[in-house]
Order: sequence, then C-alpha cells, then structure tokens
Amino acid sequence: MDAGIGDLNALRRLENEVFRQDAWPLVDLIAMLTMPGLVRLKAVVQNEMIGFVGGDVRPADHVGWVATLGVLPAYRGMGVGRALLHACEDRLFLRVPVVRLSVRRSNRVAIALYESEGYEVVDVWRGYYFDREDALVFEKKLD
Ligand SMILES: CC(C)(COP(=O)(O)OP(=O)(O)OC[C@H]1O[C@@H](n2cnc3c(N)ncnc32)[C@H](O)[C@@H]1OP(=O)(O)O)[C@@H](O)C(=O)NCCC(=O)NCCS
Repeated sequence: MDAGIGDLNALRRLENEVFRQDAWPLVDLIAMLTMPGLVRLKAVVQNEMIGFVGGDVRPADHVGWVATLGVLPAYRGMGVGRALLHACEDRLFLRVPVVRLSVRRSNRVAIALYESEGYEVVDVWRGYYFDREDALVFEKKLD
C-alpha cells in the first residue's frame, strides 16, 4: 500500500525499532514520504505499519535504488520483506533496467533474501556505516 506524509510518526517508530543507530534522520524520512517520484510502500496489520520499503530512481544513471527495507521483528519470517522488495522492484523496473541496494556486510538475513532474489555484489563501500562496517552493494538487472 502506498505511504504518505500521514505515516511519518509510524515510519519513525518503525525505523527506530528496526534500524536503531542506522535509522534515518527525520528530515530524510520526511523527504522519503513527500518527494515526487519516489517509491514508498507500507505493509499494514490492524492499522499498524509493520513494514516499509522506499526506493528512488536516478534516471541519468539508469539505476533505481532500494533505499530502505524493514519489517518489525514480530512480523519477520512471514514473507513480508520479500513481498515489499518485489513491490518496490516492480515499480523501479518500470523506469530503469537496473536496481541496486546497499547492506551491511554482516547482515546475513538480508543478504540471503537478496541473493535468493537474484542480486549480485557489484561493489564494496569500505567503512560506509557509522561504526566503519563495510557496505556491500548488490545489483539486479531486468531480464
Ligand atoms: C531483512 C528483512 C527486511 C527481511 O524481512 P522478513 O519479512 O523477515 O523476510 P521474509 O519473511 O520475506 O524472508 C525472506 C528471506 O529472508 C531470509 N530470512 C528471513 N528470516 C531469516 C532468518 N531468521 N534467518 C536467516 N534468513 C532469514 C530468508 O532468505 C528468507 O527467505 P525464505 O523464507 O525463503 O527462507 C528483515 O529481517 C528486517 O527488517 N531486518 C532488519 C532491517 C534490515 O536488515 N533491512 C535490510 C537491510 S537494508
């Protein structure tokens, strides 16, 4: 389901619970929910946002990015993350032939999801995160 600025508080709660110190600052969350052309999709259970995916397109590079993907711990392992990823990809692939995302090198759960969806590592951003952990950049091409 599409998300909008009315979801700001719910998205803040979700981001803080899911990403802790990696959570985006408020200004980035507002931009994600308001800037034209972005993909912003929420998963909702009983009026509560339990998952979110955000994506953006860089037409000059012919690349789309899955910028954030998170599911509340209580709802993991039920297919919500994969479904959000699919929905975001579907929208990005309408506009660009390549989708990329970055993830902590140690995040084996997310990496297992991305590899099972056909993503491959194309780059490493050394020391990208605040604690200097590397980011792996994964890419998937429209086939
Ligand atoms: C990554 C994340 C979004 C996955 O969401 P989810 O709803 O639990 O994922 P799904 O139930 O759709 O599972 C998708 C795949 O993830 C992997 N996975 C999920 N839970 C796992 C676990 N406990 N252990 C290992 N792999 C797991 C599996 O490959 C799974 O596929 P399978 O069910 O066919 O085995 C979720 O774990 C999350 O929010 N993590 C914290 C934030 C994060 O790391 N985001 C991504 C980095 S940007």
